[in-house]
Amino acid sequence: MDITSFIANMPKAELHLHIEGTLEPDMMMSLAERNNVSLPYSTIDEVRAAYNFASLQDFLDLYYQGMNVLQTAFDFYDLTNAYLTRCFAQNVTHVEIFFDPQGHTSRGLAFETALDGITSALDEAERSLGITSKLIMCFLRHLPEDAAFETLESALPHKDRIFGVGLDSSEKDHPPPKFMRVFKAAREAGFIAVAHAGEEGSAANVADAVDLLEISRIDHGNAVLDDVVLTDRISAAQIPLTMCPLSNLRLCVVDDLANHPVRLALQAGLLATINSDDPAYFGGYISENFHAVQLALNLSFEEICQLGRNAYLGSFMNDEQKAAALALFDAFAADNTP
Ligand code: HPA
Ligand code: ZN
Repeated sequence: MDITSFIANMPKAELHLHIEGTLEPDMMMSLAERNNVSLPYSTIDEVRAAYNFASLQDFLDLYYQGMNVLQTAFDFYDLTNAYLTRCFAQNVTHVEIFFDPQGHTSRGLAFETALDGITSALDEAERSLGITSKLIMCFLRHLPEDAAFETLESALPHKDRIFGVGLDSSEKDHPPPKFMRVFKAAREAGFIAVAHAGEEGSAANVADAVDLLEISRIDHGNAVLDDVVLTDRISAAQIPLTMCPLSNLRLCVVDDLANHPVRLALQAGLLATINSDDPAYFGGYISENFHAVQLALNLSFEEICQLGRNAYLGSFMNDEQKAAALALFDAFAADNTP
């Protein structure tokens, strides 16, 4: 099997995916119509033409605008279901996905509207497609910590359906110390913690997210490689990094995929993984991310296998599930590598 087919067919886990970032232009248009929401676009081509980002903030402005079309639990169900259907087609067997409750409660939706729609699609996908999942709610870091506390309060009755808390939105000007108290409260309530760090921000942000927010996984983490001491520390602790090559390219975090740090991350012993972040906005789901970075860096079968295994190792599956998933992955690799 050639490496392109290998990537397409290998069992995969996705650990960094914002469900609101899977809103494809055609669904955006049809939900706008269904819910009578006006959009500044009249065709799908116009939507796509607007997706030309110079920075994370440029993207976030359109991402929050796009969310306006999501109004009912049924909309969130349709959105999540469409993503999971694509996962099945790409042989993704496990997903750990984010949602942004404050992007919806700030528009007057109940916390439960998004949660109910997303989790009903996740439950159904486990039954009908065998795709397992965990749900992580992110705090929007451009909002005050008090707002994050309110969101945490809303989540407490739903701990059976929300596995962890994360931190996303604008990294510039909103570093980890701002959210120390709410992360502590969330961890004490039994949520695992992750955070976006070192995407547009520095290695110091990653160190603060690890030390002050006590996160179990780093989202992006590109900047880790800028600091040798931190790299050694994150590598020794095997704290996973959820990297997103096409996102980094489209948000100008890297100027060229040939300069993406994922190979350096593997060489440094970091538990790096490949993910799609906001695939509808960045031009590809998980397989396209693997294909693009493999081509740009000429990654070997061994490197692709390492990235594929790392996703299961870095997941929040329990040890038994992890061992079973890794056994399947290794059997696939043994049968299909040259
Ligand atoms: N970074 C920060 N916030 C986000 C992202 C991202 O890549 N995607 C959705 N919200
Ligand atoms: Zn992200």
